[in-house]
Amino acid sequence: MNLVIDVQGITKRFGGKVAVDRLDLQVGRGEIHGFLGPNGSGKTTFIRMLCGLLTPDAGRGTCLGLDVLREQAAIRLQVGYMTQRFSFYEDLSIRENLDFVARLYAVPHRRAAVAESLERLGLAGRSHQLAGHLSGGWKQRLALAACLIHRPKLLLLDEPTAGVDPKARREFWDEIHRLAADEGLTVLITTHYMDEAERCHRIAYIAYGRLLARGTVPEVIADAGLGTWEVSGPDLPRVAARLRALPGLEQVAAFGNTLHVSTRDRTLAEASLAEALRDGPQRCEEVTPGLEDVFINLMGLARDHFERTQAQAQTQTEPQTQAQAATEAQAATEPQAQAQTQTQAQTQRRPPRP
Ligand SMILES: Nc1ncnc2c1ncn2[C@@H]1O[C@H](COP(=O)(O)OP(=O)(O)O)[C@@H](O)[C@H]1O
Ligand SMILES: [Mg+2]
Repeated sequence: MNLVIDVQGITKRFGGKVAVDRLDLQVGRGEIHGFLGPNGSGKTTFIRMLCGLLTPDAGRGTCLGLDVLREQAAIRLQVGYMTQRFSFYEDLSIRENLDFVARLYAVPHRRAAVAESLERLGLAGRSHQLAGHLSGGWKQRLALAACLIHRPKLLLLDEPTAGVDPKARREFWDEIHRLAADEGLTVLITTHYMDEAERCHRIAYIAYGRLLARGTVPEVIADAGLGTWEVSGPDLPRVAARLRALPGLEQVAAFGNTLHVSTRDRTLAEASLAEALRDGPQRCEEVTPGLEDVFINLMGLARDHFERTQAQAQTQTEPQTQAQAATEAQAATEPQAQAQTQTQAQTQRRPPRP
């Protein structure tokens, strides 16, 4: 496969905090690759490293065949990056904004390129409107036009459809698919919408900076090994409370007029469901889990892992702190023992083992 993105072990720390943790990603030419995960999971940071705006602390690889550590300037010229926040001039018109971006990239035949871009994205009729006066959907179209104007080979789109209505979202996705199919453009796109995840050729899911799942949507669902049951009937809030109190059920969530119950421990789940529904008229049937069920489950696992790691780190540091406090208190009351306790404290101040 002709890989447009091929990176391994990409890591970024801010202070002591790991924002992106040894991430690998491969994306082929013409592929629309979804990048999903809860807020703060490192998606924007990763995208900024791919397009040369941030330097990874560790890892290696290529973007458009160029080295992500050494050829950042060349990468930037061939990538269209749509930032998470609208980043164009609100007091310039649509045409002026596009013209400005075209100048930045020294686009040849600039006027013609701007006119073509206005036409192609359906912006010609409003080219004189100020960007600040546009609704979410039109702002997004302007942003897409602007990041396409220098004819990039790779589009990095960071939550491009947040706050955009369903019709505009659909048109946006139609355009993305057209660009990928007709022009071989490769797209890495972050989103929180499950319907958009399903429109990607492949997806990757990250939480706490770590890659938790990847593949096509059916692969990601199958790999999660999740069992999901749908409970319907009367009095569902009471049933939900009972289910939550029983063991083995990792998620109990209201879905319209039904409850979705998901878990990876099938035996325990079936026993708990039977117990909770023993006297009731409610019906229960196993269904195929949706992406949302899978993501919420993955996120819960990642959170448990993260909290466990934090707790371990704390128990490793706490006794040390207590011991240190004790020796320091002792040193204060027994000046004759000071030399000795200082040596002890120094030994005890060794960093905890990872
Ligand atoms: N410039 C920065 N300085 C310090 N911390 C940052 C910076 N950028 C991002 N972070 C932190 O890194 C983590 C990942 O952030 P981000 O990449 O924006 O996540 P996402 O895009 O998935 O919401 C967050 O905890 C965020 O607060
Ligand atoms: Mg982000």
